[in-house]
Amino acid sequence: MVITTRSETQTVALGRRLGRLLKGWDVVCLYGNLGSGKTTLVRGLASGAGSKNHVTSPTFALARLYRAGRRTIYHLDLYRVAADQTRDIGLEEFVSDPRGICVVEWPKVGEVYYPKDRLVVKLDHVRGGRRLKFAAKGPRSREIIRRLEVA
Ligand SMILES: Nc1ncnc2c1ncn2[C@@H]1O[C@H](COP(=O)(O)OP(=O)(O)OP(=O)(O)O)[C@@H](O)[C@H]1O
Ligand SMILES: [Mg+2]
Repeated sequence: MVITTRSETQTVALGRRLGRLLKGWDVVCLYGNLGSGKTTLVRGLASGAGSKNHVTSPTFALARLYRAGRRTIYHLDLYRVAADQTRDIGLEEFVSDPRGICVVEWPKVGEVYYPKDRLVVKLDHVRGGRRLKFAAKGPRSREIIRRLEVA
């Protein structure tokens, strides 16, 4: 599925729709260049999942945790993480928390840790906005996309 957003507000709104569909154990990988809208999407996602926490880029912190009712949103940014440092971050625990929703910017270096069935979003700059391509890697992520299409 491909969606083009024409403003930051539209990207936040899309994230909110996505966040409403997520539940524990879901993993969302956000690929895309600097400024392509990953953190912006997470802002909506966290709000849609029920969090009132303020979302900011975790680039320096590597991971931020938001409370969303009984659930925890793990917001990661692996931009500054080298391949041989991924063991130190806690990725294993984050993705195995049954009440955890894991959202990862610059997910490449952590790929061995994610479940096969994860939602992959590729964000690109296009004229007038951002293009977001959603791809499923299994039945659960397929279900999320199917529901996002009608949400
Ligand atoms: N359609 C759009 N969707 C999202 N952001 C947009 C859009 N149009 C313009 N912008 C702007 O682009 C920027 C996106 O920044 P954001 O921090 O979300 O990117 P990012 O992908 O997380 O970058 P980084 O790789 O540095 O973490 C914001 O300043 C936002 O206002
Ligand atoms: Mg970011």
